Amino acid sequence: MTDVSSQGSAPGDDREILTNRQGHPVYDNQNQRTVGKRGPATLENYHFLEKMSHFDRERIPERVVHARGVTAYGFFEAYGTWGDEPIDRYTRAKLFQERGKRTDIALRFSTVIGGRDSSECARDPRGFAIKFYTEDGNWDLVGNNLAVFFIRDAIKFPDVIHSLKPDPVTFHQEPNRIFDFMSQSPESLHMLVNLFSPRGIPSDYRHQQGFGVNTYKWVDQAGDTVLVKYTWMPKQGVRSMTEDDAANVQAHETGHATKDLHEAIDRGDYPEWELLVQMMSDEEHPELDFDPLDDTKTWPEQDFPPKPVGRIVLDRNVSNNFAENEQISFGTGVLVDGLDFSDDKMLVGRTFSYSDTQRYRVGPNYLQLPVNQAKHSPVRTNQRDGLMTYYQDTAGESPHVNYEPSITGGLREGQYPTNDEQGPEIRGRLTRSRIPLTNDYKQAGQRFRLMEQWERDDLVKNFTNMLLQCDRPIQERMVWHFLLVEDELGLRVGEGLGIAPGDVSHLEPLQSQDPTDEDRERMGRLG
Ligand code: HEM
Repeated sequence: MTDVSSQGSAPGDDREILTNRQGHPVYDNQNQRTVGKRGPATLENYHFLEKMSHFDRERIPERVVHARGVTAYGFFEAYGTWGDEPIDRYTRAKLFQERGKRTDIALRFSTVIGGRDSSECARDPRGFAIKFYTEDGNWDLVGNNLAVFFIRDAIKFPDVIHSLKPDPVTFHQEPNRIFDFMSQSPESLHMLVNLFSPRGIPSDYRHQQGFGVNTYKWVDQAGDTVLVKYTWMPKQGVRSMTEDDAANVQAHETGHATKDLHEAIDRGDYPEWELLVQMMSDEEHPELDFDPLDDTKTWPEQDFPPKPVGRIVLDRNVSNNFAENEQISFGTGVLVDGLDFSDDKMLVGRTFSYSDTQRYRVGPNYLQLPVNQAKHSPVRTNQRDGLMTYYQDTAGESPHVNYEPSITGGLREGQYPTNDEQGPEIRGRLTRSRIPLTNDYKQAGQRFRLMEQWERDDLVKNFTNMLLQCDRPIQERMVWHFLLVEDELGLRVGEGLGIAPGDVSHLEPLQSQDPTDEDRERMGRLG
């Protein structure tokens, strides 16, 4: 092997010598190899070709959503209880059991719609995605800061995202396209009332909440299940920006939230969130006026009190943004024993989508990258090869046997946990239908009434400014929806647009709607 450390260095310069990826020392990194001083260049310029062709491939596709984000590391610390009760009464997931037990985590915050270098001041949901590196393998909890979502069926996801992304012709984000879609998708009202309030622009990532949004299950030792929802509360408090605040920040800095998080961790001011869990029995709930598997709904806190189960602290920044933030890959299918899916129709669609996009975006061996590995549990598979294979997963004693079953060696199946899940039995006809109870307006109205006056004013202003840029039929339909959410909201936005209730009273419910009796009663009063 060539000793590169002694070559090419100027006297007194003891820095290490640059090499190419083949380990060859680079003697000249300033000039290509040419015939004569003024060229032409030669083709056997190995160092030049390697350097340039690697540079040409430096980018991978950015995430199709949530492209801009920042990752940091830390730990989850369990309280061992759900409120005052021992947690093993509800889940056997190991990371929750003992008080004080710590599990390594990586957390990625993000905005949704903009590209990789877009502004962090955008009015946009914020992502809150955590990877827990547990002894039973990884658990990903992929949530947002607004508690609910625009749609309740995964089949609508490409459409809602297309409407929010730039116009395919002008490449400009268009209010008309956004509200065209939303006005025809009344399940989005609850999310819109959150997004266009000041909560739609968190002041930075340290001062935002996180929510699992979808409904999951916990499984106990006996295999019995409960439905659960997750909430993250920042110890730093919740802070937001108005549109004007955001414009001021954006005038100086488009990456303020990433910078804020990085600098806080660097100076030892470690941000912290408490994890709270709401619980509901795993059965149908005809007594509720919403469907607990509908991700456009929250569970009322007075009926389903959120109880603390642990906390997270972020205490380390990534050492390389590309390797650890760009390539980190989360998915809703990544659960450990003691946690399970519910039948939430969004959740099942999400669970397909994440690993599908990651096999394309990062590559089929994305789980071999250090940031994605299940680093605290053994990984032994018979999956082999493929683009960018870095190593072979452990194959046990017999590297020749990369299949199962076998009587000559190789890996064997594990044993089911003592009790497999004992959730309710499910029956039904194959169908393509909405959930029976959609109740699209009630919680949006409750959310509006909970707002302070300045928040309502801000919400009305933001809706009005956006809708002023929309076609009249879209404006009318949105005012009609707002009147069904809450009189004040509909009347004030309508006033800003020059639309009175009488102008929209002729509108019929959309085909995609099942109005409640309360909605019909309000419709009747519109004239
Ligand atoms: C990222 C799909 C709903 C939160 C992504 C990505 C896809 C996706 C394809 C990019 C992943 C990657 O490239 O690594 C979907 C689909 C949904 C859906 C199909 C509905 C059917 C939601 C909902 C939430 C959410 C309801 C919030 C609870 C996130 C977050 C990320 C993300 C936080 C960024 C993860 C990261 O930081 O890498 N989603 N999503 N998504 N999604 Fe969703």
